Amino acid sequence: MNLAGMHVFVTGGSQGIGAAIVKDAAQSGAKVTFGDIQDAQGESYAAILRSEGLEVYYVHCDVGILESVEKAHEMAVSHFGIVQGLVNNAGVNSSVDPVKMTSEEWDRFFAIDLKSVWHTARCVLPAMRVEKKGSIVNIASIHARMTFPKFFPYAGAKSGVIGLTRNLALDEGEFNIRTNAVSPGYTLTPILENWFKSIDQKQRQLSMDPQPLKRFAHPSEIAKVVTFLLSDDASFVNGADWIVDGGLHARYA
Ligand SMILES: NC(=O)c1ccc[n+]([C@@H]2O[C@H](COP(=O)([O-])OP(=O)(O)OC[C@H]3O[C@@H](n4cnc5c(N)ncnc54)[C@H](O)[C@@H]3O)[C@@H](O)[C@H]2O)c1
Repeated sequence: MNLAGMHVFVTGGSQGIGAAIVKDAAQSGAKVTFGDIQDAQGESYAAILRSEGLEVYYVHCDVGILESVEKAHEMAVSHFGIVQGLVNNAGVNSSVDPVKMTSEEWDRFFAIDLKSVWHTARCVLPAMRVEKKGSIVNIASIHARMTFPKFFPYAGAKSGVIGLTRNLALDEGEFNIRTNAVSPGYTLTPILENWFKSIDQKQRQLSMDPQPLKRFAHPSEIAKVVTFLLSDDASFVNGADWIVDGGLHARYA
């Protein structure tokens, strides 16, 4: 129970990696608030976890809109108290032609995949600074270091997440607030399944062939790393980007 007594706020927790993080953190003793835009799915997932005896609360939260994050944060604090752990997980894929992408599409995409990290940090940091304790984990991606053709501009946003992680680590360290990133490789969630549906069989095979473990990750395998980084067991890990990709990045092209 290495998160016992901690209130953790997770974004994008209704499905996929976020849902696994919510469950693992709650099973590790945390009170968990999670926010998402899929309200029906979020409410029913929270009810399932509560029926298993876990302390979980769902709030509507569109991470791309500051006012929505502020409202979700207020509801979380009045339900479970000050937030001591934050996981910025919500994200969407983008694969667009840079010439065809509109300015509005760019703004919305970067609001969800990058600006959201600042939105949530802005809400939780004041209390964390007073408490002199906090742990923030930002879900980036292997695409921050290596990417595909036709994946514009996902790699840009995820590289930005790692940059923000480094700065928060430096700026908030004096308050005993640690900030780290986790960069998953291929993980079996709806975002990946939808992407696989959009490509052909040859491309799908090209994705599997170089995997050193000859499989993709299960969301729980990412969640375990996030729980560790949230916990005091990781008390000297700060400003890191932990790659959890089954060794894919070790391969020379
Ligand atoms: N699945 C992978 O292979 C993989 C690999 C590397 C990184 N990631 C990253 O992991 C994170 C989770 O991915 P996933 O695979 O679980 O995706 P997913 O699509 O299965 O789940 C994402 C969740 O975020 C929510 N969400 C989307 N827009 C939102 C918004 N504006 N506000 C609040 N919630 C919103 C969705 O409703 C969904 O519940 C993302 O940041 C993604 O970029 C995923």
